[in-house]
Amino acid sequence: MSDLPCQAIAVRGLTKTYAASGRSPAKQALIGIDLEIPRGSLFGLLGPNGAGKSTLINILAGLVNKTAGSAEIWGYDIDRTPRQSRAAIGVVPQELNIDPFFTPREILELQAGLYGVPPAERRSDEILHVLGLADKASAYSRTLSGGMRRRLMVAKAMVHGPPVLVLDEPTAGVDIELRQQLWAHVRELNRRGTTVLLTTHYLEEAEELCDRIAIINHGRVIACDRTENLLAQLDNKELTLILDRDLEAVPATLAEHAPQLAAPRRLVFQYRASESQVSQILAAVAAAGLTIVDMTTEETDLEDIFLQLTRGAHDGPRDGPHDGSRTGGPHTGGPHGGPHGGAAIDRVDGGGRR
Ligand SMILES: Nc1ncnc2c1ncn2[C@@H]1O[C@H](COP(=O)(O)OP(=O)(O)OP(=O)(O)O)[C@@H](O)[C@H]1O
Ligand SMILES: [Mg+2]
Repeated sequence: MSDLPCQAIAVRGLTKTYAASGRSPAKQALIGIDLEIPRGSLFGLLGPNGAGKSTLINILAGLVNKTAGSAEIWGYDIDRTPRQSRAAIGVVPQELNIDPFFTPREILELQAGLYGVPPAERRSDEILHVLGLADKASAYSRTLSGGMRRRLMVAKAMVHGPPVLVLDEPTAGVDIELRQQLWAHVRELNRRGTTVLLTTHYLEEAEELCDRIAIINHGRVIACDRTENLLAQLDNKELTLILDRDLEAVPATLAEHAPQLAAPRRLVFQYRASESQVSQILAAVAAAGLTIVDMTTEETDLEDIFLQLTRGAHDGPRDGPHDGSRTGGPHTGGPHGGPHGGAAIDRVDGGGRR
């Protein structure tokens, strides 16, 4: 394909039912997913534990067989042109799988070999450098910290220079500083043209990092839009004013804005940004003869939207992003730890570079 595709990933009617086994009944993990990930975007896939995010990613990676529907990566259908579609994507699975007895450089060389990258075209040291692992290139991987292992996983996914990079929970369990470094790398990769699809439980980061976001719940896409459009869906705002003196009641002239007197000197206004402007409220406050000594505003954020969309439809333990912490604590993992990731190497059949 000589022309660059508009969509880096296009998924239509994608359905996955895991067969019943032992005591587990069959599970419909994906139900008719339609998703388009434009070339060049930094796309966030969000959803509570068990929503189907890893299933979707593992189908794209060729690690899980879909039940129905179709998927194209970089314009290549995963059924009809599996080699090309697999060569176009680099996947960092949710589970860490790094051979502890190889060095990072050896791991990258091995991976490059599996993808049929000729030695002259390998860029192992450059990639290690980009991911801040240059000084660990020759260390045993078992001596790497958890955050370094994550970065090594990202490096591994990049060896064949795929135009699409997919990261499944890349920062789970990674401390704040390393997380920010990793995000900076991801942002830089994206700036240089790589399309990035990532899943994360850190909603604030998705909000800050991703230009588009899809939210999936119970195997269905329940929202998909540019981040700013998603945020604009709910335009509730809250304005808190601190006054220079105590009030006994809300002045009658402010009744139209229906503030609450949260404390004797604290007036809280809730309003819709699409309907009123802060300046109108401030003018009314001034007209009431009140002096403001401080003010804060709070906007709807992604967490509010996420909770609104997924609320009441959660069937598992509330151990995902619902934990209520604004910064989103580290992902604790669902009840289904093991099945992902481990088989990545076995499935790559060499050759098939773009
Ligand atoms: N190999 C498997 N066999 C049977 N069921 C599975 C398998 N893998 C996943 N599931 C089920 O499919 C559903 C979706 O799981 P998936 O791992 O895709 O969710 P997720 O969105 O990645 O969740 P998390 O945020 O916890 O990583 C869950 O109900 C899960 O239990
Ligand atoms: Mg997952």
